Amino acid sequence: MVTMSPIATVIIFILMLLLVLLSLAYFTYSILLKTRPADRKKPVLPPGSMGWPYIGETFQLYSKNPNTFFALKQKRYGSIFKTHILGCPCVMVSSPEAAKFVLVTRAHLFKPTFPASKERMLGRQAIFFQQGDYHARLRRLVLRAFMPSAIRRTVADIEAVAVRTLRAWDGRRINTFQEMKTYAFNVALLSIFGKDEIEHIEELKECYYRLEKGYNSMPINLPGTLFHKAMKARKELERIVSKILASRRKKLVEFNDLLGSFMEAKEALTDEQITDNIIGVIFAARDTTASVLTWIVKYLGENPSVLQAVTEEQEEIMRSKEIDGDKYLNWDDTKLMPMTSRVIQETMRVASILSFTFREAVEDVNFEGYLIPKGWKVLPLFRNIHHSPDNFPEPEKFDPSRFERSPKANTFMPFGNGTHSCPGNELAKLEMLVLLHHLTTRYRWSLSGSEAGIQFGPFALPLNGLPISFSLKT
Ligand code: HEM
Ligand SMILES: *[C@@H]1O[C@H](CO)[C@@H](O)[C@H](O)[C@H]1NC(C)=O
Repeated sequence: MVTMSPIATVIIFILMLLLVLLSLAYFTYSILLKTRPADRKKPVLPPGSMGWPYIGETFQLYSKNPNTFFALKQKRYGSIFKTHILGCPCVMVSSPEAAKFVLVTRAHLFKPTFPASKERMLGRQAIFFQQGDYHARLRRLVLRAFMPSAIRRTVADIEAVAVRTLRAWDGRRINTFQEMKTYAFNVALLSIFGKDEIEHIEELKECYYRLEKGYNSMPINLPGTLFHKAMKARKELERIVSKILASRRKKLVEFNDLLGSFMEAKEALTDEQITDNIIGVIFAARDTTASVLTWIVKYLGENPSVLQAVTEEQEEIMRSKEIDGDKYLNWDDTKLMPMTSRVIQETMRVASILSFTFREAVEDVNFEGYLIPKGWKVLPLFRNIHHSPDNFPEPEKFDPSRFERSPKANTFMPFGNGTHSCPGNELAKLEMLVLLHHLTTRYRWSLSGSEAGIQFGPFALPLNGLPISFSLKT
């Protein structure tokens, strides 16, 4: 998959050699000191190998599908192990109990952590990076805009976006992921700004695309670098958001969208805090939803009987609306889609687009006799949990019927859990259901047949974004 220059090959060879030597040394050392946590009062580090200092096991992690790395490690060491990636010592956990401990019951001992460059691009005051009172306040504002009682009024507007999106694909060969990104972007903008800011939206989109190009760049702020261009685009986004804020303040009416929630006087967020969080929500909402939708198109294409069942469920809803003379989907319609909902759940389980999340221990923590030292990263491995045969029999099989019964607590966490879990999950499910209603009742598509691979960017995605041929049903 990856082609390398001869020099890189030599360097990697030397690194591997060092790794072997170090592992040997470590192996001898660990035999000499073989102790099990239960035998001791003092907690011990989890099992695992740290690899070469600094480089650690990053090379192994990135040289193959990261999931293979996690699966191998888990097989070797169990559901908690230590390793070293990107210069950071870390502990990876993959049992429901450990995930609950880190994300829910002891969440205060584990703070969110991101690369500094990401923080600068999304904005330092964005919700992801916060803890304590400011985080709780932001979360309340975000949840207020995205909870069912708020978004149920927007179903018809989301439907209009879906219909427009699908119509534009008719008769074309499309890149599913690219097109789904546009859809998720438009729905996110609708839920943030409502329908009334159209004059500023195109400009805002264009800036966001420029910002996005720098997301994974090196944080070097010199003219000409991607990072520099991205930071400039961020400045412009701030300016556009300020213009929208100013025009809304003149209108003196209340808005039910996210911006309206942020602007409410007694909550008093600064313009800068509002901008950081708008950019943050777009970032959190777009590629995630688009990746899941892309996987759904793939799995439906590969499982004709499942597609048939979903189509029948959606046709039934369409017929009942024709009889009642309702033109638009509403919230209650979306509650009559159990089969389609199970397809969404099973897709999120199998694809596990967020393979894991990151936290950092704020003090030495003892988990079941294991020490997690202060400053170490902690990664709950969602994908391993979703693919464990203990939680889901025949885990590699795509079988939506397994969700006819609810999964056990902390075995299915596509939206995380606890204090930082996804506040957009209801909106995400809603916009997927609405799109699938029109997709399955009106259109057909065919996969090109060469879409077997996975790529990570950083979300798991079918290779090349899943090119498909798309047309109206005849
Ligand atoms: C299918 C699509 C989506 C998936 C799979 C997803 C998944 C997640 C997960 C796993 C987290 C928690 C990360 C952690 O604990 O470290 C999260 C957080 C978040 N998500 Fe989503 N998400 C999706 C769509 C959305 C949408 C549509 C929005 C907004 C409209 C959104 C907004 C957020 C925000 C703001 C956070 C941060 C919450 C906090 O730090 O308190 N997400 N998401
Ligand atoms: C989150 O954790 C709580 C407490 O353990 C649990 O009751 C709930 O089911 C968990 N949520 C998920 C999605 O697993």
